[in-house]
Amino acid sequence: MTQRGRFITLEGGEGAGKSTQAKRLASALAAAGRPVLRTREPGGTPGAERIRTLLLGHGPWDPVAEAMMMFAARREHVVRVIRPFLAAGGWVVCDRFADSTLAYQGAQGLPREVWARLVDVALDGFAPDLTLMLDLPPEAGMARAAARSGADRYERMGLGFHAAVRAGFLRIAAAEPARCAVVDAGQGVDDVSAAIRATVQSRLGQAMD
Ligand code: TMP
Repeated sequence: MTQRGRFITLEGGEGAGKSTQAKRLASALAAAGRPVLRTREPGGTPGAERIRTLLLGHGPWDPVAEAMMMFAARREHVVRVIRPFLAAGGWVVCDRFADSTLAYQGAQGLPREVWARLVDVALDGFAPDLTLMLDLPPEAGMARAAARSGADRYERMGLGFHAAVRAGFLRIAAAEPARCAVVDAGQGVDDVSAAIRATVQSRLGQAMD
């Protein structure tokens, strides 16, 4: 029987370098012989990408309604794409997942218990094998994000909001150390990649060059 693959998520605030690092990790895993899918949230299926457009371009939403839309997109992504790929033995590298909903919508007033109920309903026990939390002070992250064009709705929120998001991610990492690893995203890009590869090797036993 095919052995199930591994599900790795990257989390963090704006400008932490998740997309770059997701690409590098996916390439390194592929070079090590793993079938890899790199994907992102909200998104990852045609329908979920349409929900993304709604979430990032419109608003404000009530935080519970917003979280429900995130989880609707997530459920589609998990059921149609992520789970089948893992079941076939592939490894999935996903830029953001359920922790982002707790950190971002939590910082907008979503109660943790409501988030936990949505996780139960939408994910039914499904969770990442490893979550890499790319940690960066919001001042540095926002400066990096501002250098890119076309800020979305979340990037336009103030520093206080982004400080609360960072605190939310660090709380999750502290509460679930077996699943989460905090990576200092303030280092150079190559050093962040090396730290990520070392973590994947020590946590999941996958060596990479
Ligand atoms: P990205 O810019 O990293 O692609 O993510 C899109 C934005 O969506 C980002 O500002 C964070 C936000 N977001 C949430 O607020 N809740 C979520 O559950 C997810 C997945 C993303």
